[in-house]
Amino acid sequence: MHIGKNFYCGPGFTVLDHAKVTIGDNVMIAPHVSLLTAYHPKHYTQRIVRKMPDTFEPHGRGDYELISPITIGNNVWIGSSAIVLPGVSIGDNSIIGAGSVVTRSVPTDSLAIGSPAKVVRTITEDDLLPENMWEDFVPLTKTKNQNK
Ligand SMILES: CC(C)(COP(=O)(O)OP(=O)(O)OC[C@H]1O[C@@H](n2cnc3c(N)ncnc32)[C@H](O)[C@@H]1OP(=O)(O)O)[C@@H](O)C(=O)NCCC(=O)NCCS
Repeated sequence: MHIGKNFYCGPGFTVLDHAKVTIGDNVMIAPHVSLLTAYHPKHYTQRIVRKMPDTFEPHGRGDYELISPITIGNNVWIGSSAIVLPGVSIGDNSIIGAGSVVTRSVPTDSLAIGSPAKVVRTITEDDLLPENMWEDFVPLTKTKNQNK
């Protein structure tokens, strides 16, 4: 697993990194997001976990697991409780809405929401907040009294 610079994640972030997970720089991950790289055969005869073998063997647990990597680009924000499935890539600067199930890759600069997640629009300079809205901003590191 690779995590880039300036990374943030909330509580309950789950990564099943059986295949490689690559996370770019400046990524924000909200609470209870899951990145899942593993999956299993659809036919039950290949999915049953058999008894542990007495001696070490490759595929020691006796089940078949399939894996596919996940790549999260730079500057991505993933909303709370989103689930990213095996093989998905999320392009730079994109946003995944809270509660989404991301089954297919998402291009750069995209806002994707829902289950399955669909790109609803491109994020552009029109999404920039007005500069003056930060004038009354109180840094989180200061207590109320310190700001008086
Ligand atoms: C994706 C997100 C950023 C979109 O915000 P937005 O552009 O302000 O979206 P809006 O509130 O204008 O909603 C636009 C439409 O998309 C729908 N929508 C918004 N977010 C949605 C989501 N996560 N899942 C499904 N639909 C969603 C809205 O219902 C609305 O539909 P309508 O036009 O039929 O009414 C935001 O909804 C979101 O999911 N934020 C994540 C919050 C979070 O996880 N915070 C944790 C802190 S890190």
